[in-house]
Amino acid sequence: MNFLLETLQLIVLTIYYHLEFLVQLFVPQRKKDVSGEIVLITGAGCGIGRLMAIEFASLDASLVLWDINVDGLKETARQVKEKGASRVHYYQCDCSDRDVVYRVADQVKSEIGDVTILINNAGIVGGNKFMDTSDAVVEKTLRVNAMSHFWTYKAFLPAMIDKNHGHLVCVASSAGLIGVNGLADYCASKFAAVGFAESMAYELISAGKDGVKTTIVCPYLINTGLFDGCNTKWPRLLPTLEPEYVAKRIVNAILTDQVYLLLPKTLYLLRAIKGLIPFKQSVVLGKYLGAFNFMDAFRGREKKRD
Ligand SMILES: NC(=O)c1ccc[n+]([C@@H]2O[C@H](COP(=O)([O-])OP(=O)(O)OC[C@H]3O[C@@H](n4cnc5c(N)ncnc54)[C@H](O)[C@@H]3O)[C@@H](O)[C@H]2O)c1
Repeated sequence: MNFLLETLQLIVLTIYYHLEFLVQLFVPQRKKDVSGEIVLITGAGCGIGRLMAIEFASLDASLVLWDINVDGLKETARQVKEKGASRVHYYQCDCSDRDVVYRVADQVKSEIGDVTILINNAGIVGGNKFMDTSDAVVEKTLRVNAMSHFWTYKAFLPAMIDKNHGHLVCVASSAGLIGVNGLADYCASKFAAVGFAESMAYELISAGKDGVKTTIVCPYLINTGLFDGCNTKWPRLLPTLEPEYVAKRIVNAILTDQVYLLLPKTLYLLRAIKGLIPFKQSVVLGKYLGAFNFMDAFRGREKKRD
């Protein structure tokens, strides 16, 4: 195809997909049936992971819950069963350790079957300025928040590709789109997670595996305790999100094959603005939005997380 023809095709498709996007804003999307699917959630021992498991409880899927914290897993399994789920399995798994991920993944495949919906959700935050952060914490943050995604994909994606069926979910963060003062290692891990998930989505499309869907989730501050003490400066612009709301929105995004989920909606605007304004303006905007002091009141700093 020559330049003119390809450019024309680009313009037509751009208009078509923008119109499709606008229609989707107003017309409720059909939700896919996930009964019989095997859903694996990492970091399911508390917070968003637990709440997503509860959301899946009524959808007749098999649930496989992973966490480093067994007591948390037991409690999640109990709550999920109470909500009506009959097939719930939990495994202790330190997602920061590649060998452990591969070992537990093999166990899941032989005991339960091939995972068809993989939700990479486990996450940690150190919360110190970079020069005050130990090398061990930097490495751990990268391994839990980003590298674990590589290993779970390696373990579970081949079966999805074979059947051209599945769903890969990356629970990242607004800190994976915009850098934050005092969160350098966390932001690096979340940028990595977003870049990996986005690139893999393109890789699957280019391989013709459009039956394997991708959802990338970037929420702002959620009231789970992970960012204990942190507050939002302008709650009307960037509200602190309730965990139940976030879990519902993520599961809805999975059921409707939504690729990007940014919460709250203001983030779509901020992401676009970031690409258009000069750096000095982004400093002014960051200060206005409270991004420069966001971590000042963080109370999790003393907690030993490595
Ligand atoms: N809370 C927020 O404000 C916020 C905002 C944006 C994104 N997120 C992201 O959402 C995800 C869930 O966060 P949350 O708020 O529910 O946090 P949370 O601390 O409540 O839950 C995280 C879970 O991950 C588990 N975990 C930690 N290290 C692990 C490891 N090595 N292996 C296996 N499991 C491990 C923990 O035991 C815990 O159960 C995280 O990826 C987080 O970065 C959170």
